[in-house]
Amino acid sequence: MKLAVIGHPVSQSLSPLMQKHWLKQHGLNHTYDLCDVSGDALSSFLETIRQEDWLGFNVTIPHKESILPFLDRLAPQARRIGAVNTVLKKDGQLIGYNTDGLGFLKPLLERYEAVFHRPVLLIGAGGAARAILAALLTTHTPLVMVYNRTAEKAAGLVQSLGSGRATILRQDDVQDAVAAAGLIINATSCGMAGYDPLDIDLASASGDVVVYDIVYKPLNTPLLAQANSRGLQIIDGLDMLIHQGAQAFKIWTGRDADTVGVKDMLCSAIGEGCEVEP
Ligand code: ATR
Repeated sequence: MKLAVIGHPVSQSLSPLMQKHWLKQHGLNHTYDLCDVSGDALSSFLETIRQEDWLGFNVTIPHKESILPFLDRLAPQARRIGAVNTVLKKDGQLIGYNTDGLGFLKPLLERYEAVFHRPVLLIGAGGAARAILAALLTTHTPLVMVYNRTAEKAAGLVQSLGSGRATILRQDDVQDAVAAAGLIINATSCGMAGYDPLDIDLASASGDVVVYDIVYKPLNTPLLAQANSRGLQIIDGLDMLIHQGAQAFKIWTGRDADTVGVKDMLCSAIGEGCEVEP
């Protein structure tokens, strides 16, 4: 059966490499392709998927939100986030899931579960930040402090996910939040190749803070380089990418994807060493 990632542009996606690796490991004969589908072509492409022998697909920029009206059902987390990154075709129905949140949480649950006992500083208020905030609110995290360049977007995010455990920060309060946080997350585009670095000074951060950057091009962002130079614990964007992919694989096949070794494979593909990992 067919699997794919659909997006526009999509040629840089690492998902085919990762998913084909797991399909091969499990001896499954499904195919996994890159499908460049523009916004105008989305509706007709989904009709083709309904007619043909598809198992499911990943959804990436710019369709994560615009695909919602075309689907038959949404899993609860996808509905809450208002975005879909994984679709399962089952009994002729297209069911939307969002595995970004769990993909984000997994590396923390595996390595740094203690962070959920302390306040979190979340920087950003776009689609990625939304999935992350929803995921954090499923944990015991006492407080998520959200800061975004455009304050209204942070307010909208906190309001729509509705919880007394999330608050917005003014720029003047960000440095205090750095000092108070057990986990600092960059969920903005800052640090990505071609973008400004994130303007955060980690000097006041506590020694056991975890700094998590969801950007993976480059892997060693200026934020993670700063964290590394201060001897802080870090998680990079490939970890989240791999774990959201593993969750999608599980939804399609019912099988557990082995994430060991996948990071080295992706690092080679993007031409970077994995030396940012402690
Ligand atoms: P994604 O789906 O990857 O989250 P997005 O929805 O476009 O992408 O969100 C991008 C995020 O990066 C936003 O929080 C954006 O801040 P604004 O809401 O103020 O636009 C943030 N961002 C992008 N460039 C930035 C920059 N130069 N400085 C600070 N924040 C930036």
